[in-house]
Amino acid sequence: MQATAEAHPNIALVKYWGKRDVARNLPAVSSLSVTLDTLRTRMTVEFGSGERDALSVNGQAAPAMLGRVSRCLDSVAGNDRPAARVTSDSNFPIGAGLASSASAFAALVVAADAASGKAHDRLALARLAGAASGSAARSLYGGLVELDAGAEQIELVQLAAADDWPLRVVVAITDERTKPVASGDGMIRSAGTSPFYSSWLAQQEDDLSTARDAVRDRDFERLAEVAEHNCLKMHSVMWTSRPPIVYWNSATLACMEAVRELRAGGHAVCFTIDAGPQVKAVCLPASVEAVSAALAATPGVVDLLTTGVGRGARLVDQ
Ligand code: PMV
Repeated sequence: MQATAEAHPNIALVKYWGKRDVARNLPAVSSLSVTLDTLRTRMTVEFGSGERDALSVNGQAAPAMLGRVSRCLDSVAGNDRPAARVTSDSNFPIGAGLASSASAFAALVVAADAASGKAHDRLALARLAGAASGSAARSLYGGLVELDAGAEQIELVQLAAADDWPLRVVVAITDERTKPVASGDGMIRSAGTSPFYSSWLAQQEDDLSTARDAVRDRDFERLAEVAEHNCLKMHSVMWTSRPPIVYWNSATLACMEAVRELRAGGHAVCFTIDAGPQVKAVCLPASVEAVSAALAATPGVVDLLTTGVGRGARLVDQ
């Protein structure tokens, strides 16, 4: 009745922004991501431990997040399940645009599945994680992962395993505070108000096909170009929503500039930015030291996290 799972966040190189079905939390666009390694969320689920569900996040009771967690437990273990005690622990800032909900819900479904003895397969668990947090579906898989928005349900495919392409991701933290607009709310606002939203949807398949080919050919330059373009398009949709959704700060821009200069200087590196002000610099191993040094020296960067490509969510011994 108890199990512990670990999952890593993932960073999209072709982004998910927009929902086709809000009630079922189905994405309006397909996406492509890289699963990280060093950052992780560890989640323990213990069924039958009390009268009602309880959630602790990094050692503190977290009642605000309990509803979402309870609904996810219902979806995995059934509505007739016993109450659960859920303990979550992450080794990086949560709710700050570092995809902590992806690692959290990916670990949650794996732990809840084992603790309840349901034995869903990986794709079924990915779909259940995705219903709680769209990007969490991708963290069930390691390496480079494509999420196909599909017709009825999402589909997932691993394009390259963790060891197949040894990319590095240097995360420049510019502000550890919780983001001002939750991504789910932001997506709904963008769909209803941004004049660019429909072209964002229309162009996504082209970006995906370019990125997919680049991964297949291990063509970093091609991947870098389409990843930056896709990221800037997503942020253009955010900026042109009403009221605007601006996650960047001046350090975010300074980091983007630092990455551009590195690339102009011959380094294999590109930036991507999610629903927060942190900049993720994706690079080949030969450039990781230069990238880390340049970002560490960029004004406004408060911390750097360096990761490689990680595995999918899995059970761990406690
Ligand atoms: O999974 P959510 O609902 O937190 O949405 C994540 C959206 C982005 O991180 C901005 C983009 C992405 O594809 O991960």
